[in-house]
Amino acid sequence: MSTPAPVLTAAPTRKKVTTLTFRQKKERGEPISMLTAYDYPTALAMDQAGVDSILVGDSLAMVVLGYENTLPVTMDEMLHHARAVARGAKSALLVGDMPFMSYQVSVEDAVRNAGRFLKEAGMDAVKLEGGHERADAVRAITSAGIPVMGHIGLTPQSIHQLGGFRAQGKTARAAKRLLEDALILEEAGCFSLVLESVPARLARLISERLSIPTIGIGAGAGCDGQVLVAHDLLGLFDRFTPKFVKQYANLNGEMTRAFNEYIADVQSRAFPAAEHTVEMVDEEWDSLLKEL
Ligand code: KIV
Repeated sequence: MSTPAPVLTAAPTRKKVTTLTFRQKKERGEPISMLTAYDYPTALAMDQAGVDSILVGDSLAMVVLGYENTLPVTMDEMLHHARAVARGAKSALLVGDMPFMSYQVSVEDAVRNAGRFLKEAGMDAVKLEGGHERADAVRAITSAGIPVMGHIGLTPQSIHQLGGFRAQGKTARAAKRLLEDALILEEAGCFSLVLESVPARLARLISERLSIPTIGIGAGAGCDGQVLVAHDLLGLFDRFTPKFVKQYANLNGEMTRAFNEYIADVQSRAFPAAEHTVEMVDEEWDSLLKEL
């Protein structure tokens, strides 16, 4: 008989990371680590590895659900995955990403949907995309006691307006607008701000001008923290790998290798072997044969 696999448990072994921890880390100059996750085992592994924060990103739409972009994912799908992540991660600060059209139509919608991430899915905070045009929503959500992470630069929910997945803030004028947006979002109450695909020196400047921590993705080393989409880091997303991603594993290759081996084993009858099989004791088998 083979030894049963160990049961995965989410035992909290370190102090819970909070929005206050984020601010203290910035004050101490300690980089903040953040990753996306969409399921229980990944969240468990990240939490055990000691990541500061987990984002249940709307990148779910692309890397898990196979859509072309992030627009189709719904509130209910986001909540379903957020609940799985919350079951796996007990110490990291958990951030639920508000999907397209869950906060753009009205401030009331924004507060209601943000509340669902905390009330129904165990998230600690929410993230939403956009600059000055989101200030009212940020004020209303934070007034309800819900921490908000902003997100400016390349905002994937606006790809049709931006003309595709393209770097932002490359001209002096566009860079000034991003800095202004960052200051407005800080003033509106965001506890942190994602800077996606913006020039490194602009991201450093914004990080220096804000008292809240910035979390960069494709924004260079001058941010207060970094976030990556887990599937990019693990080599699990087949369609493209953005230039700013460092790939730490090739799990797609590893999965294909394992599946190929399994198929070959089934075809050659090498699997299942005796150790994968339950058998009757000889006496019971003999007595069955006598009765037949
Ligand atoms: O949805 C997501 O994964 C994100 C990160 C890229 C920041 O918003």
